[in-house]
Amino acid sequence: MLAGEEGHATQKAMQILVALGKIYGAERLVGVSSVQVSGVSYKNLGDAGLEFLDELAQDGRARVKTTLNPAGMSLTGWKSQGIPRDFAKKQLKVIDAYERLGIEISCTCTPYLAGNEPSFGQHIAWGESSAVAYANSVLGARTNREGGPSALAASLTGRTPLYGLHLDENRLPTLGVEVEALLDSPEDFSALGYFVGKAAQDGVPYFSGINRAGLEELKTLSAALASSGGVAMFHIAGLTPESEMISAKVESLSFTEGNLVETRSMLNDEGSPDFISIGCPHCSINEMSTVAKLLEGRKVRREMWVCCSREVKRRSDEAGYSRLIEKSGAKVVTDTCMVVAPVEDIGYKVVATNSAKACHYMRNNGLRVRFLPLEACVAEAVKLA
Ligand code: F3S
Repeated sequence: MLAGEEGHATQKAMQILVALGKIYGAERLVGVSSVQVSGVSYKNLGDAGLEFLDELAQDGRARVKTTLNPAGMSLTGWKSQGIPRDFAKKQLKVIDAYERLGIEISCTCTPYLAGNEPSFGQHIAWGESSAVAYANSVLGARTNREGGPSALAASLTGRTPLYGLHLDENRLPTLGVEVEALLDSPEDFSALGYFVGKAAQDGVPYFSGINRAGLEELKTLSAALASSGGVAMFHIAGLTPESEMISAKVESLSFTEGNLVETRSMLNDEGSPDFISIGCPHCSINEMSTVAKLLEGRKVRREMWVCCSREVKRRSDEAGYSRLIEKSGAKVVTDTCMVVAPVEDIGYKVVATNSAKACHYMRNNGLRVRFLPLEACVAEAVKLA
């Protein structure tokens, strides 16, 4: 591949992987069973990124199952989202290049809820930070936090350099976290992740004191840990698959009721929301059901997006949840999310959401944010002006 015998794109991809392997001291490459490619929104890629993809799509093809992160808009409903036409044209070109590369146009940050669910111990190369933390920690798969080009290179070659979280010794905890606060909603787990991510940075937190955490809690915890810090793996005593294999004693901190209140308030700016968005990371089918029940028989007075994968939308359509959500005037949005879509260009100023990760990035994008529990987000959406 490196000699160019398998084409230009494969050669370029292998050059990227060899360079990375040298930087990180990898002994060799390892085969991967799946890839998740990030860097899909034209908002992040720009023209240079589009040219790079176009070049690779001349003769490059995915060699393993490869799914795609959210794009900057719904690929079919972008007009009703208010997306500028020029942006849409470029975004569709990006998607066309990925399609030619043989990548599934799944456009979701929860590939593990949409047919790309790796097994324990499998090596993968994923590039969506929240999914990376989930795959390593909850599923026990092995991936580094790949950038767009390195994930794509893994897809075109079926390989990744063997370093970092592919190796046992780097999966050990670096920081203990004793959870003293009572966590009784996914939003509380989101706040916990946001607080701990800052302290752990790119380390591996080990939580104790958590007795129960379902898919929704683990999904939002993963996302928050990876946004305020660079956490790509964590353990929860008695809950996550590798937690029992560990005995290392590390420095630890506590997460108290006071820390929970403080974190919530830090993610709340002044102002009344003009945009409400749920689904960061993309909603599970249970979340679609909860939102549908909360919206049943009500009318939203502000723009409201409920973001999910195409697969979850299909199931939500079948179960009748999508119809209840859309009857209220809210939108079931696939392929994109509030962070990677250019919502600031559409003109929204204050966004309410139940995700600490979304608050973090939307604030960076210049919006004011309100971090609220799901029920309170819906209450804001239906409130009379
Ligand atoms: Fe997914 Fe967008 Fe949040 S990609 S994790 S919904 S910022």
